Amino acid sequence: IKKVGVLTSGGDSPGMNAAIRAVVRTCAYHNIECIGIYRGYQGMIEGDFKEMGPRSVNNIVNKGGTILKSARSVEFRTPEGRKKAHENLLKAGIDALVVIGGDGSFTGGLIFNSEYGFPVMGIPGTIDNDIYGTSFTLGYDTALNTVVDCIDKIRDTASSHNRLFFVEVMGRDAGHIALNAGIGAGAEEILIPEEDLGLDRLLDSLQKSKASGKSSSIVVIAEGDKIGKNVFELKDYVEANLPEYDVRVSVLGHMQRGGSPSCFDRVLASRLGMKAVESLLEGKSNYMVGLKEDKVVLTPLEQAIKGKSEIDRELLRVSDIMST
Ligand code: F6P
Repeated sequence: IKKVGVLTSGGDSPGMNAAIRAVVRTCAYHNIECIGIYRGYQGMIEGDFKEMGPRSVNNIVNKGGTILKSARSVEFRTPEGRKKAHENLLKAGIDALVVIGGDGSFTGGLIFNSEYGFPVMGIPGTIDNDIYGTSFTLGYDTALNTVVDCIDKIRDTASSHNRLFFVEVMGRDAGHIALNAGIGAGAEEILIPEEDLGLDRLLDSLQKSKASGKSSSIVVIAEGDKIGKNVFELKDYVEANLPEYDVRVSVLGHMQRGGSPSCFDRVLASRLGMKAVESLLEGKSNYMVGLKEDKVVLTPLEQAIKGKSEIDRELLRVSDIMST
């Protein structure tokens, strides 16, 4: 391997810049070249490349977003798009790829490898923490801290007005953010895609909470929860059934994807970025680097895509007991 291309793809997450920096500097350390590819696979198709050296990644370890920009490329899903991308890589002399992103980005990398035998290494970057093969994805820890910070503020006003707040957090298919931030912020109930709490149980729980003397409450909902009502319908439903509650909704949205990465995410990004490059130099391909039991480990990309990152069910019990 003489020249590594690095790209960020899919939804961005805090820590992606720290990972780019780690890839670029590890390449420099081992005297190989590094090329930044802009806008993920779309930039590969358009040949949007930039040479990167250790000084091109100064002062980004602390920055949210991604200096390489991100995109979800529709064209890369076609054989013609991937052919163009391959031609551009050959022209630029790039002979290996580091893909920082989620499972959609890894799927693209795997197909590309199967067609062209191109060495690919994945780094899990998404706030959702929904990737098999790692206990933590880049940006998850920062997003948890952002959510907890927001809910703390919502709690202040909820408590002043004796209100119930439904707070919607990200997590299309996974409840990791809702569950952990919910416990951290002291939520009354947590609704996640992995477990349908049911409307009756929700009403029952809210009724009990009022009767136990609580004057305000926070319910955290993952955007992909399966209760069958969106957060605004849920507000109407609860107000109709429990008129004693004054309900408000707060959808946290994309603020969860931004901000300066936590120290944990910066260290994780540095460890994973270094391992990704060094694994390519050892001749490995088609793996994702991840963290398990505080060790950096490799998982075949195929498994990382197909496997499911399970929630810790014990946390549901913790949440139940904490809301007593
Ligand atoms: O995959 C990460 C994520 O933040 C999801 O939780 C969310 O559903 C999605 O991205 C939103 O992505 P976008 O608005 O960029 O399409």
